[in-house]
Amino acid sequence: MSAAIIDGKAIAASIRQTIQASVAERVSQGLRAPGLAVILVGQDPASQVYVGNKRRACEQVGFVSKSYDLPATTGETELLSLIDSLNDDATIDGILVQLPLPGHIDSAKVIERIQPNKDVDGFHPYNVGRLAQRIPVLRPCTPMGIMTLIESTGVPTHGLHAVVVGASNIVGRPMTLELLLAGCTTTTCHRFTENLRAEVERADLLVVAVGKPHFIPGDWVKPGAIVIDVGINRLDNGSLVGDVDYAVAAERAAHITPVPGGVGPMTIASLLQNTLFACEQYHS
Ligand code: GUN
Repeated sequence: MSAAIIDGKAIAASIRQTIQASVAERVSQGLRAPGLAVILVGQDPASQVYVGNKRRACEQVGFVSKSYDLPATTGETELLSLIDSLNDDATIDGILVQLPLPGHIDSAKVIERIQPNKDVDGFHPYNVGRLAQRIPVLRPCTPMGIMTLIESTGVPTHGLHAVVVGASNIVGRPMTLELLLAGCTTTTCHRFTENLRAEVERADLLVVAVGKPHFIPGDWVKPGAIVIDVGINRLDNGSLVGDVDYAVAAERAAHITPVPGGVGPMTIASLLQNTLFACEQYHS
């Protein structure tokens, strides 16, 4: 079998077009365009690339994008007071603080300071709690984008055995909550999981978010599975690869995401959806 490729780039482009049309419609009615504030602390090269992509995507759909590039030495108090002022700014619908933050800043405290109805990353305990209680509003962007990719396959999710490898706050944990909400039986694997191979081998739906190139051998993939690869790893030769050995996995899976062009573009599409949602539902 050779898997159908889930084209995240095309699906994200179509979402962006829909959002661009909604923004144009708002503006033509005399309403303001949604506003997103993106804060980057320090100069981590990967974060600079991600933040640049987010800002560009915002401008492309007609959002107002406000950029805050702060030095790595920025104090926690200074960052918290910037968030306070953005919470009070009526032209701002979403506040995104790129993670990871420098070690001297308490990320949990920073995330909690963002007003939940401007938390377009969906990381605030209020929004994570709502997702856990099956009443989601602003949902974490990468898992939300992955649910859109899974829906695009047309495969019903009820009763599937879903295995998530990775248990971060950004992807793994909220991913498991999303899949639970979609009727899957879920297993979350992490560094203490004893027999990872056995867990992966019974996955009808496999999501891998570990950040290690080719961490999952392709022959662990169950024939006919849906495989979602969140990893974007740069090899020494400059090429980008996922966390799953794609060549072999694609021979066994029914549907698989490529790297690049799978999950990556969906994170940004979901961010745009959340920002438009926050604007329309909370701040119009
Ligand atoms: N770092 C890695 N992924 C993300 C994300 O989706 N949002 C933020 N704020 N930081 C990240």
